[in-house]
Amino acid sequence: MALSEKENLAPPRHIAIIMDGNGRWAKQRGLPRTAGHAAGAEAFRRIANYCRTLGVEYLTVYAFSTENWKRSQEEVAGIMKLLRRYLEEALRDMEKNRVCFRFFGDLSRLSPELQKLCYDAQHRSEEYDVQVNFCLNYGGRDEIVHAARAFAADVAAGTYRPEALTEALFASYLYSGEIPDPELIIRPSGEKRTSNFLLWQSAYSEYVFMNVLWPDFAPEHLDEAIAEYHRRNRRFGGT
Ligand code: FPP
Repeated sequence: MALSEKENLAPPRHIAIIMDGNGRWAKQRGLPRTAGHAAGAEAFRRIANYCRTLGVEYLTVYAFSTENWKRSQEEVAGIMKLLRRYLEEALRDMEKNRVCFRFFGDLSRLSPELQKLCYDAQHRSEEYDVQVNFCLNYGGRDEIVHAARAFAADVAAGTYRPEALTEALFASYLYSGEIPDPELIIRPSGEKRTSNFLLWQSAYSEYVFMNVLWPDFAPEHLDEAIAEYHRRNRRFGGT
């Protein structure tokens, strides 16, 4: 393969994933839903490692939405426990993995213990370059309202005049701040909805919907999604 062709097949800089299908995966096996989330957390570890091998710069995952509080107390507690365990592990292996953590969402509703883990993970990993963004108590509309409020507060404080607002300035108020938008958003599990995920940032993203359930998601599925992304870019991307 010519070098230029290989370069064309480089992975997108930023991949975002809606980790969907954990509940169905568990049901198919007669297991509790929390077992599906545990397998989903394993799939996340697998895919985050693979993204690092591929040289993906940003990986954003939907771990808990503003709507997910409606689930049973047991299920919510199970997901929170998995997140706590993962972050404790990540803090332990920080130097080895060199992953930079960011959290998108209103963390104030999480337990103080989990908030502290998020804070520590973010602050202790600032230097590292592969960036994982966890969307936690996240909703795309909520993010936009939060950003609009913060800008309005700056206008009230005299920092900006309303006319100063541009798309780029507004984007800087979002949880994602200055990072590039995702070129590719993957939703496994066969559902074809955006579910309030990265509403602003997905304006130009390619969506790839796949029929695999998230706990079964393997590096080959990521390869397939990236190949589909390149096929579309070749078709629509001009010369
Ligand atoms: C959607 O599947 C998934 C969630 C609401 C939770 C995602 C959480 C994890 C993968 C674990 C988080 C921990 C780490 C370390 C990443 P669903 O339950 O809606 O599945 P269903 O549609 O089949 O019911």
